[in-house]
Amino acid sequence: MTAEPRQFASNVSAELFDPHDTRPQILMCPPDYYGVEYEINPWMKRDQPPDHALAVRQWNDLRQVLSDAGAKILLQKPVRGLPDLVFTANAAMIHRREAMLARFRFPERQGEEQHDAQWLLASGFHVHRLPSDVYFEGAGDALFCGDTLFAGYRIRSDVRGLQQIGELFRCRVIALELVDPYYYHLDTCFCPLAAGMAVYHPEAFDQYGRDVLKELVPELIPIAEVEARRFACNAVVVGRTVVTNTGCPSLHRELAERGFTPRETSLDEFTKAGGSAKCLTLRLDGEEAANWRSNA
Ligand code: ARG
Repeated sequence: MTAEPRQFASNVSAELFDPHDTRPQILMCPPDYYGVEYEINPWMKRDQPPDHALAVRQWNDLRQVLSDAGAKILLQKPVRGLPDLVFTANAAMIHRREAMLARFRFPERQGEEQHDAQWLLASGFHVHRLPSDVYFEGAGDALFCGDTLFAGYRIRSDVRGLQQIGELFRCRVIALELVDPYYYHLDTCFCPLAAGMAVYHPEAFDQYGRDVLKELVPELIPIAEVEARRFACNAVVVGRTVVTNTGCPSLHRELAERGFTPRETSLDEFTKAGGSAKCLTLRLDGEEAANWRSNA
């Protein structure tokens, strides 16, 4: 389904998902109303607010780097009073034309759900919801690597929803308990690069999680604490380009050795809310590492 681009008041073009477009398609939300207005993870400190003008520049730079890498960027309309709507990774989990909508743990973010649902419906996705007492925070906690869906739980998403997600998408789901509050979403400590290849921060997982990741992902690159704290694992993969926050030189070396093109762009105003490159994006046509993408 294609729709004519509309213009939002803030000059945002409301172009929708196009299943016939072969480019990588990524949903972002301009940071017009972004800020740290509450504290729902250990990164957020209301007394250390982001610099708004700088956040806007950093967000525009990220958008540009992703476009340069070949992605088509689609935009969701920002909403006053929803400062975390910029983190579109949490809106839903996508599998082909199906979307499992987020059910946010914290009331502060629950107002986002209706806006996410509207955008996804308008873009032609079938929108599914879990029971209202089951929390699930979208692609922030659910990432395909090959045919397997890796899902983080405990800090934000509930393990209870994962069986239903596996049934709906007919895939194997591996539940990984997150044990460090600084790595509260799976995408802060695990990033699939390709089928069979991912980076991870081992200390964010329990022993079972580390063992299962080692067993199921043959090429698993560990990220040390200094770079994990720079959100090295919160990377966006577009083709062979991998985009991260600044301050991740070892990861960039590892990527270059494997034939990827690493790109850095400063996202420090967003790490103040506990998010970086990946959190600011939602891949709509399937992540590079998801096998279903090439079958699409
Ligand atoms: N402040 C947001 C929250 O705590 C940040 C979300 C980051 N998103 C992500 N996919 N890790 O919910």
